[in-house]
Amino acid sequence: MRKPSGPGMTRERAPRNRTLSCSDQEILGFSQSLRRLTECLTADALDNVVANQDLFEAAEFLPKGFADLVVIDPPYNLSKDFNGQAFKARGKDEYSSWFEAVLEIVVPTLTPHGSVYVCSDWKTSILIAPLLEKRLRVRNRITWEREKGRGARANWKNNTEDIWFCTASDSYYFNVDAVKLKRKVIAPYRSDDGQPKDWEESADGNYRLTHPANFWSDITIPFWSMSENTDHPTQKPEKLIAKLILASTVRGGCVFDPFLGSGTTAVVAKKLGRRFLGVEQNTEYCCWALKRLEAAERDSSIQGYVDGIFWERNSLSHQKVDRGGPAASAESAGDLGLFK
Ligand SMILES: C[S@@+](CC[C@H](N)C(=O)[O-])C[C@H]1O[C@@H](n2cnc3c(N)ncnc32)[C@H](O)[C@@H]1O
Repeated sequence: MRKPSGPGMTRERAPRNRTLSCSDQEILGFSQSLRRLTECLTADALDNVVANQDLFEAAEFLPKGFADLVVIDPPYNLSKDFNGQAFKARGKDEYSSWFEAVLEIVVPTLTPHGSVYVCSDWKTSILIAPLLEKRLRVRNRITWEREKGRGARANWKNNTEDIWFCTASDSYYFNVDAVKLKRKVIAPYRSDDGQPKDWEESADGNYRLTHPANFWSDITIPFWSMSENTDHPTQKPEKLIAKLILASTVRGGCVFDPFLGSGTTAVVAKKLGRRFLGVEQNTEYCCWALKRLEAAERDSSIQGYVDGIFWERNSLSHQKVDRGGPAASAESAGDLGLFK
């Protein structure tokens, strides 16, 4: 189902469709709470703020060194209509210059131990990778298999995205225990005394907590039956952002998203007890973000992340029965400070 685009565009929804949107009345109301940065403020004054403006306009008012984590999900080098505000595909040099200007703004906002994740498609990756290497320590490239993708007649279907993992320095925080993946055990090896080797036996099945690799196939894109879904054309899943935040920040840490879109980073930061600042040019998207933030006060669940554990895809029935578990404490282990 294509998502509608353009200001004020709504569509009739099926009864079980949980896509979030705002009525005209709500947009009026939420708009009052949106901020516009017009003066230099301290980092504290920017806690949990959604700023509705162009990043390049906000740039001069952003404090330096406040963000433990920056999540950059920029417009890729594709023509895309963001609710009436179009981003046009451009020549390689022109896109590179644009992205370099983004880094110029964003990198100084990092703390000396901060991390940056940058989302891109493969074509955009070719352009941005050398720019990231110039300014940051590039540590990994995560490949996210999105499952959906448009088939092509004379090419391979493109259904992956890259997420570049970079840090400001060689001293950075990374809590691997907080992002382990719970998988069904295929080969249940036992030690000589008959005990499970690195896996848990339960009435509900046999599971193992595995180290998270740089290939992610356990995350679906948000769709109509999920309460996190909006009509944003390139919305990221909460589960994906949760992994970034849990691995790379402590509770109370600060996350900055310069292209906030429908608010995913801010919402997940809030659900996980982190502070956030988000900048987004489109007013309606910002209102969706505020509505999602309000909903997060009542329900801080993240689909696919249950009681401190990330589950592999299509394991919903197991997630409901198996509550509690070792990773519930994995986060707090990280609070002790796991700097490399
Ligand atoms: C790829 S989307 C981000 C989606 C977001 N991660 C989410 O989960 O909803 C990029 C966003 O950047 C916004 N954007 C594009 N150029 C911008 C600019 N110069 N300043 C602020 N926002 C901008 C677009 O409106 C769009 O919502």
